[in-house]
Amino acid sequence: MNVIVFASRKGGSGKSTLTSHLAAHANRPSRRCLLIDADPQGSLTLWHTLRGTAEPQLRNGVRGVAEIVEQARQDGTEWVFIDTPPNMSTAVTEAISTATLVVVPVRLAVFDLAAVKETIDFARASKKPFALIINAVPPRRDNTESPFVTQVREVLAGLNVPVWAGQITHRTIYSLSLEYGEGAREYDEHSPAAAEISALWSAVERSVKAIHGAYAGAVMHRAA
Ligand SMILES: Nc1ncnc2c1ncn2[C@@H]1O[C@H](COP(=O)(O)OP(=O)(O)OP(=O)(O)O)[C@@H](O)[C@H]1O
Ligand SMILES: [Mg+2]
Repeated sequence: MNVIVFASRKGGSGKSTLTSHLAAHANRPSRRCLLIDADPQGSLTLWHTLRGTAEPQLRNGVRGVAEIVEQARQDGTEWVFIDTPPNMSTAVTEAISTATLVVVPVRLAVFDLAAVKETIDFARASKKPFALIINAVPPRRDNTESPFVTQVREVLAGLNVPVWAGQITHRTIYSLSLEYGEGAREYDEHSPAAAEISALWSAVERSVKAIHGAYAGAVMHRAA
């Protein structure tokens, strides 16, 4: 079983957005997924309510996730996606301790190196693989990334941390589709947003394969 934990001490960086889109993308009848909302703000729960289906299933993890994760393991769940609040509370540290991979969204508009560092320092101390995802940035033009993104990559390079080579662009569809309880692909399977989420999902899959030692190719994470 793979447990993907979306964590960042920085509020508004895109944890709930990426959790929802990736889970909607990953879930299918042949792949059992479980969502855990460990954030009392309940963004993921709201999306799930708007979705109006039981797929993927959602559990409330505000009071702790360890037992829910263990139960999911026993039930034969393949993927667990955990959304966490923007702090380093026990709920978050417990979620990270269950993680196969910690995904840390970084958003330019709310860029805060200290907050990012705190989250990755904890993942490192917990010996958990993690990857930063650059979120809500200007689009690539002529296959070249925006100077903003290049600058952020330079700053992050100074931290010597794994950063996904792709990007999640700032697009209305990311928030709009969630208001319909959908993921980007469900909303418009031919959209650039659907393509970005698909690329992120592929990177996550490759990463966890590498973490399980089954794949030796290029990966987004590194055991830091
Ligand atoms: N790629 C994107 N394009 C457009 N809007 C985005 C994108 N990512 C996030 N947003 C918007 O930014 C806001 C914050 O995103 P989100 O709620 O996912 O952050 P969060 O990290 O979960 O916040 P919190 O720490 O408060 O839980 C939301 O209004 C969301 O719709
Ligand atoms: Mg959130």
